[in-house]
Amino acid sequence: EDPRKEGIASSIRVVPHVPKGGIMFQDITPLLLDPKVFKDTVDLFIERYTGKDISAVAGTRCRALRIVVEGIEARGFIFGPPIALAIGAKFIPLRKPRKLPGEVISEEYVLEYGRDCLEMHVGAVQQGEHVLVVDDLIATGGTLCAAINLLERAGAKVVECACVIELRELKGRERLKDTPLYVLVESN
Ligand code: PRP
Ligand code: MG
Repeated sequence: EDPRKEGIASSIRVVPHVPKGGIMFQDITPLLLDPKVFKDTVDLFIERYTGKDISAVAGTRCRALRIVVEGIEARGFIFGPPIALAIGAKFIPLRKPRKLPGEVISEEYVLEYGRDCLEMHVGAVQQGEHVLVVDDLIATGGTLCAAINLLERAGAKVVECACVIELRELKGRERLKDTPLYVLVESN
């Protein structure tokens, strides 16, 4: 196991019963306050997807194999853009409702605590484009599931979802079905 993952795991603060009883809030703000750990986190993703990007393009003449990084508002916006810049992919924000000014496609979903909706600008992604979806955390998997559904409706292919933290007990991974999930640390 990569020793950097220990530093990442120990920089996540677990706050019980936030935002409501029974929820163990995984607070990534201490991780962001430590430039080395923040860099380690982003680097681990970059190392994985730089390699993946190259191998995906090898043996094909189609530029649709370019990886696109999508971030999910709000915490996915912290980790998605540095990955996109490093691997030379475009960044597409997946936003909460009524934030994007242009024409959008929307996908509703049920969250660990309440209902929500994700929106993306029409035309942000091209038919057949390969997309990496980035978020800080997978809990029930509802958010990533909605992101996958939204992107597939837009004609894209989600090649992988990447999260810093996975809450194993909630079995969110199972909801993603065929889409691979890559996580750096696990928590219960
Ligand atoms: C949190 C977290 C993930 C999502 C995971 O987002 O950042 O996006 O919950 O939960 P799930 O796997 O059960 O869907 P949230 O919408 O609470 O807030 P944020 O705007 O701070 O990212
Ligand atoms: Mg979120």
